[in-house]
Amino acid sequence: MTMPGTDTAGEALRPHAEDAFAHELKALEAADDRPRPARWKLSPWAVATYLLGGTLADGTVVTPKYVGPRRIVEVAVTTLATDRALLLLGVPGTAKTWVSEHLAAAVSGDSTLLVQGTAGTPEEAVRYGWNYARLLAHGPGREALVPSPVMRAMAEGSTARVEELTRIPADVQDSLITILSEKTLPIPELGQEVQAVRGFNLIATANDRDRGVNELSSALRRRFNTVVLPLPATADAEVDIVARRVDQLGRSLDLPPAPEGLEEIRRVVTVFRELREGVTGDGRTKVKSPSGTLSTAEAISVVTGGLALAAHFGDGVLRPCDVAAGILGAVVRDPAADRLVWQEYLEAVVRERDGWKDFYRACREVSA
Ligand SMILES: Nc1ncnc2c1ncn2[C@@H]1O[C@H](COP(=O)(O)OP(=O)(O)O)[C@@H](O)[C@H]1O
Ligand SMILES: [Mg+2]
Repeated sequence: MTMPGTDTAGEALRPHAEDAFAHELKALEAADDRPRPARWKLSPWAVATYLLGGTLADGTVVTPKYVGPRRIVEVAVTTLATDRALLLLGVPGTAKTWVSEHLAAAVSGDSTLLVQGTAGTPEEAVRYGWNYARLLAHGPGREALVPSPVMRAMAEGSTARVEELTRIPADVQDSLITILSEKTLPIPELGQEVQAVRGFNLIATANDRDRGVNELSSALRRRFNTVVLPLPATADAEVDIVARRVDQLGRSLDLPPAPEGLEEIRRVVTVFRELREGVTGDGRTKVKSPSGTLSTAEAISVVTGGLALAAHFGDGVLRPCDVAAGILGAVVRDPAADRLVWQEYLEAVVRERDGWKDFYRACREVSA
């Protein structure tokens, strides 16, 4: 959304999915002749195509947003058309937030009805709050009520999003139970309620690693269909994800395109995967894993950072020295233990690998 009175439309640092991919969504809407659930902008088929990519009959190319098993996307989209909410679960950096945003954009044309879950998320963020100036001036009434994003989604029949659900305190989480089971949000202060209209549903994301922080109550869990987002299955898939996303990010940062960077991307992905999995790609050498997650998302940041270095201080070609510092920063989170793990990996694996001499030298230089 652009604030009224500003003339910077289209200048948003990070446009919402529905704006960034407006042309794809429009083309899909035009091509889509399948039945749509109430208030959906697209049919489930077209939503899945938006996420997974494809070419439409009119020649429009829909870029893949999510790279992974087709079935995962199909189950996620289908869930949204049922009376159960969708819980996207996975380790950090598996595109939970990303998929949630694109699903909301494709289904409802609006990805902004968002509650960010933290340990301090209050009940008002999930239900409603009050505008105290109005409350004092006019007494309790609907005009004084400040609806939460969830309440707005219920009233409009659109998709609400809750990020990091398991970080929210248990009692606040539980205010979702009535919303998801009865599809209503009582306002006892006014003797009223807001009933969800058709088209309302909710997408929550939760981090695997947070398990036990604020475990979902079983009553709440039952309202959700859980879809687990896996790490990319192969190195090729992960390289593809990183390359695509870096290309998009680079364009939004006005960095020159760097197609020659693929070799470096492959290297970053290889290092991350080997350290994550505790074994080299050929299965021959065991390596220790550092404490960080080394997710795809972090690989994307390392490469984007490297590309910016290459553009501003190099000749625009992504080289080992541009990614080495970024890799070190991602791997060494705990200065003592992780540094040892990294040194060992460097000497035992990187040094011995054919064609990795420059990379080894660059890493040695920043690790010293
Ligand atoms: N399988 C995937 N397909 C497409 N993009 C991915 C995939 N895995 C990770 N990403 C990228 O990783 C980035 C971070 O993902 P994010 O949604 O923030 O992770 P999470 O919320 O799971 O921690 C996104 O920019 C996304 O493009
Ligand atoms: Mg997230």
